[in-house]
Amino acid sequence: MSRKILVTNALPYANGDIHLGHLVGYIQADIWVRYQRMRGHAVHYVCADDTHGTPVMLRAEKEGLTPEQLIARVHGEHLRDFTDFGVAFDNYHSTHSAENRAYAEDIYAKLKAASLIDTRAIEQYYDPVKEMFLPDRFIKGECPKCGAADQYGDNCEVCGAAYAPTELKNPYSAVSGAKPVLRTSEHYFFRLSDERAVAFLRDWTRGTNTAGERRLQAEAANKMKEWLGEEGENKLSDWDISRDAPYFGFEIPGAPGKYFYVWLDAPIGYLASFRNLAGKRAAAGETIAVEDYTDAARAAAAGTEMVHFIGKDILYFHALFWPAMLEFAGYRAPSQLCVNGFLTVDGAKMSKSRGTFITARSYIEQKLNPEWLRYYFAGKSNGTMEDVDLNLDDMIAKVNSDLVGKFVNIASRCAGFIAKRFDGRLAASDIAAMLEFESAHRAGVVARAYDERDYSRALREIMRLADVANQYVNDHKPWELAKQEGQEAHLHEVCSTALTMFRDLTTYLKPVLPALAGQVENFLSLDALAWQDEWAPLPAGHAINAYQHLMTRIERKQIDALLEANRESLAPAAAAAAQDAKNAKAASSQQRHAEKQQHAAQAAETASAHISIDDFTKVDLRIARIVDAQHVEGADKLIRLQLDIGETDEAGNPKPRQVFAGIKSAYDPAALVGRLTVMVANLAPRKMKFGMSEGMVLAASDADGKNAGLYILSPDDGAAPGMRVK
Ligand code: 2FM
Ligand code: ZN
Repeated sequence: MSRKILVTNALPYANGDIHLGHLVGYIQADIWVRYQRMRGHAVHYVCADDTHGTPVMLRAEKEGLTPEQLIARVHGEHLRDFTDFGVAFDNYHSTHSAENRAYAEDIYAKLKAASLIDTRAIEQYYDPVKEMFLPDRFIKGECPKCGAADQYGDNCEVCGAAYAPTELKNPYSAVSGAKPVLRTSEHYFFRLSDERAVAFLRDWTRGTNTAGERRLQAEAANKMKEWLGEEGENKLSDWDISRDAPYFGFEIPGAPGKYFYVWLDAPIGYLASFRNLAGKRAAAGETIAVEDYTDAARAAAAGTEMVHFIGKDILYFHALFWPAMLEFAGYRAPSQLCVNGFLTVDGAKMSKSRGTFITARSYIEQKLNPEWLRYYFAGKSNGTMEDVDLNLDDMIAKVNSDLVGKFVNIASRCAGFIAKRFDGRLAASDIAAMLEFESAHRAGVVARAYDERDYSRALREIMRLADVANQYVNDHKPWELAKQEGQEAHLHEVCSTALTMFRDLTTYLKPVLPALAGQVENFLSLDALAWQDEWAPLPAGHAINAYQHLMTRIERKQIDALLEANRESLAPAAAAAAQDAKNAKAASSQQRHAEKQQHAAQAAETASAHISIDDFTKVDLRIARIVDAQHVEGADKLIRLQLDIGETDEAGNPKPRQVFAGIKSAYDPAALVGRLTVMVANLAPRKMKFGMSEGMVLAASDADGKNAGLYILSPDDGAAPGMRVK
């Protein structure tokens, strides 16, 4: 039976670049879509940019653009990145669209009519300078648990604690630097705690898709159990779906100055993109019955499916709010969620200082083949929520040995004989050899693995078959047959058989390597390869084209150049390393938060020569008392300082920092003791010839620091050791 499936990928935010971490989920979905289509199923594959919310609004402002201008530019960039990696959406739309507004308003109205919308006043931090309420991520301060400076309003990236922004010590607005004040405002809530929603979600969790596959992977189903609690329990809270102006989004009908929270209209963007696709197709004379996919009753009757590919960080939104919103608005709930894990590179979180925070664009610009990455990611994808590690040496080895050494090798060893000796025409294949080769296909091994999104298993099986094909060539040695009298027909058969095997391997690899498959179709002069249930060899007499080289090997130097292109160059390496160390400590569930921070930093760097307040506040400046100062034996310029910034050891005794300062030419150590000055407290410790230096004192000098002397800073009276300078 032919399936009818609407497939979506998570909508990327319109304020950041696509990087390799994003591509894991997009490539997984694209492979699945291509495979389902090869099986003859009808698939609509859509995505869009997620355009609304405060970060987009502020980013546009920082770039001197309107939000509309920013999202238009980013839309083009994102679409180009996806296209270049072979991720072929039928439509790439925007949540800032007429279709999305119409759906959002309709769903909201229906939820309201079902008595599932409430209003209540909540108290929230407000930036009095910027005159706006601050989302948690735009409030910073000291962690209430470990005291780490500059932590976001929702969790600490140093100790992992989660808290409310109001618990932060010394909070400040990351937008203006102002001290936020608490203000009350009326918010709209979706009543997820309603018994109907809880009962529905319990039931939905247990469902299957039309192929009988479970709606949720085992790990996701476990998460749901955790969130929903035991039968009879109700652990869900209502969901705040409104934000106050100024906000870039859709104003809530009947609620002036209140906007739909970005996460309300983001998944609705799936439907909007689909509707927009139907409009484009209608203009071309083709009908897509949108309601057959979106309306609960019609979808049930039509047997359509809606499958969402998402990252594990957004499971909560897709497994709780989204199905409940749809259900109680009379829309169809998702058939299935396919959730992927995070990407690590060489076993660690992506890092700008190591150059492993790799953007899609840089990969293309460095002229790396996107299908190398598709192949490698596929080989690491097993249909679970496990994280995927991109091990760069392993990627080089896999691509070179599997694709170039095994797969392409089959064609390159046989094609020349067909062209030179047989006028480009094939003979009949060796049926016995082919039957052996086709046994796995006939048993449906590869197909099942693709269906279950266990691409790693699919590729292992395909490479085993490539070994069988290579063995066949090795056993018959066409290069020797070519030199022997009377072996003409045998040579013809061997090369033709090997090329039939090669065609079949290409078919199996096509969902992963569509561009390479396209080249092979051209070389073998075939129509688009489709999945064959009944296997048939390439016929005798079939004419093929001259063989052109299909894929080059990856060289380590290409990977090194890619890392170099992505390596953080503007921030001092030490500060970047400190940031990495800090990020590495954050639990993996915080990966996306760190990513956002990195995006923000990147945006600030590329936008202008100015730094943002965010960049400035990364530098932890403290008032320090110089409790000791000594000459350093063997050093011309250094003085060893002991600086008290209020830190203590476990026993509560003062624990000054040791800092080597290059100020010997200007100061007598004895004259420094007892003075207050300013130090950078979060510089990564540096091992020097004379010992560890755990920070830096600030000193004024002329441009080259030589002629006009050196002057360390002193605070005004009243400043005390440990106070923050900002
Ligand atoms: O987490 C994100 O990147 C969101 N922009 C994903 C949205 S997916 C869907 F709900 F729109
Ligand atoms: Zn903390």
